[in-house]
This record gives sequence, structure tokens and C-alpha cells, in this order.
Amino acid sequence: MKAIVLCAGEGTRLRPLTHTSAKHLIPVANRPVIEYTLDALREAGLRDVGIVVSPNVEEEFRAALGDGSRFGLQLSYIIQERPRGLAHAVQCAREFVGDEPFLVYLGDNLLEQGVKAFVQAFEGGDANALLLLAEVDDPRRFGVAELRDGRIVRLVEKPKEPPSHLAIVGVYLFDRHIFEAIQSIKPSARGELELTDAVQALIERGHRVKPYLLKGWWKDVGLPEDMLDANRLLLETLEPRIESPVPEDSRVIGRVAIAPGVTIERSELRGPLVVGPGAVIRDSFVGPFTALDRNVVIEESEIEYSIVMAGATIRGTGRIDHSLIGRNVVIGRNERPPETYQFVIGDNSRVQLI
Ligand code: G1P
Repeated sequence: MKAIVLCAGEGTRLRPLTHTSAKHLIPVANRPVIEYTLDALREAGLRDVGIVVSPNVEEEFRAALGDGSRFGLQLSYIIQERPRGLAHAVQCAREFVGDEPFLVYLGDNLLEQGVKAFVQAFEGGDANALLLLAEVDDPRRFGVAELRDGRIVRLVEKPKEPPSHLAIVGVYLFDRHIFEAIQSIKPSARGELELTDAVQALIERGHRVKPYLLKGWWKDVGLPEDMLDANRLLLETLEPRIESPVPEDSRVIGRVAIAPGVTIERSELRGPLVVGPGAVIRDSFVGPFTALDRNVVIEESEIEYSIVMAGATIRGTGRIDHSLIGRNVVIGRNERPPETYQFVIGDNSRVQLI
């Protein structure tokens, strides 16, 4: 069975980070979001994976993931020329997929338990489509399914009055009938060919569309807060590992992973947290649920519940909390008068001062 991972979204709600990086390549617990997906696909026995990307990020994905051999996969890159919706993205992969059943994975989803059991359920069953569903408190920001007698009988995208609490997670298994269904639908009110509408068309054509209820947590990382929450969930299961010296003047407490080549001086690190290679932590406190990526520098500062991406420097600040800090960002104290704030910040940035 082949898989396609849809990564063509623009990530508007994660600007400015998505001005310079695809959302799926933003790190959580120091690994790009999409790497967790690729691990899950391999664990499910899938090898042949198509990554659907928009032309402007193709090179970035190729540079980050290569041919996939690093993940035990064979990756192909499929271009979606314009953002015309998820069903259109699936259509773009028509040739890659051929006539065999295939898995569709929306690249901005993280699943605690992967997709192995889901794939097995499809292979052992008779469904034309199997949809992963999760019970959520407020389903209005998702596609929502209505069930009867073990089948999905209706789907609605982002309903104001949801028919149930069962949200579409964004992982689907289809046989080739989905392509005929995609051909039959028209763009939605937001001008996109919705995958939800295509699956609804499948139901109307009398095909068997069945639900599979998710076990474990699921995170759709569309917003900064979701990224931080996913970071927390992943750090909670982190394998503790200290591969750099911790001097006597410093303390490391709890679930902590420190890569080789990290410098620690006069600091406290209280896990769960992860520190990437080449990082420097000096006269600082690094608190729970923090991921410091490679070559990050933290000096005379306190930070917790945050993601700090590669090459960023934080020097002489008060406590930083709940923050998403991009690559090579510099946050520092103005040592000399005038005592003013000074910023060089990209479009759509957010800064909160005390
Ligand atoms: C998409 C799907 C929706 C699904 C959601 C899951 O929405 O259209 O049915 O519930 O992903 O993340 P989007 O997040 O692209 O608006």
C-alpha cells in the first residue's frame, strides 16, 4: 500500500514562522513535525510515500527529507501547483497511487499511536474508505461524521451545528473509487475542493465508508499553542539521555535529553526538556516542556514551556514562557542607554512586553 502526505497548506496561522519554513518542518521536541508522521508510516509497514507540496516549498522538503532512506522509506515529491483544496491535492497524486488502495495523511497531524492498527483494520475489512475519527468537545473546527449501523452516513465540514462529536482526524484510507468521487464535486464556499465533500459523494454513490475510532492523543498543529502542546506531549515520553558534561555548579532534574557538544555552566535544567547539539546554557534556568534546538544560546535568562529553534540566542531576559522562537532569532537586553526597546521583527510577529 502506498501513502500520501499532504503538505501543501500555507500555514497562515503560524506566521511569521511559515514565511520562511513550511509548517510541517517546524520542530517539536527538536524534530520536524513530519518526521513523526514518516516514523508512523514505516511502523505501519508502508514504504512508498508521496509528499504533496506546493512549488515554493518543494526544495525545502527535498533538502530536509531527501529520498527518505534515512527513515527507511522511499519518498516521491508530488507538486500541487495551486492551493485548490485537499481533494485536489489527492487528485494530484492519482498517477503516483495507481489503482491500489492508499493512505492519506494530512501532514500537520500528530498521533500518539501511529496508524498501524488503522491500516490493519482496513486490510482486514471490506470498506471502500475508512476514516479515522476522534471524539472532541468542540467539533466545529473540523469535518464531522454522523454514524449509523457501523457506517458513516453523512459528513459535514466545519458545521455550525455539529451532528455528533466525532471529528475527522485527517488520516484516511481509500480505494480507487475516491478518484471518481473527487471528479464529481464542486468547490466549496471557501473555493476549495474539500476531501470531506468527496467522501460524502462516495457515500451517496453507495460505497462503504466506515469509521475507525482513534486511540491515544491527537494534535492538529495549526496554531502556535498547538505546537507548544504537541511539544509537551512528546517531551512527556522522552527517553532521558545526558551526552554532555554537567558541571558541579549546575543541576539537571527529571526527564532530560542533552545531546553531545552542549555547554552547561551555572544553570538548572528541570525536565521534561530536550537540548540539541552545540547549545550553550549559561547562568540560566531552563524549565519543563522546553525544546532548545541545535546551537541555541541561553544566557542569564529563564525559559520554560517553549520551543527555541536552531541558532537562536536569548540573553539577559526575564522569564520567557509559552513562546515559539524561530531560527537565528536574537533576544537580548539593551546594555547601554538609551533604555529603549529595539526590534527587527518580521511580518505577523507577536511580542508581549511586561
Ligand atoms: C481538514 C479537513 C477536516 C479535518 C481537519 C483535521 O481541515 O478538511 O475535515 O477535520 O483537517 O485536522 P483543515 O484543518 O485543513 O481546515
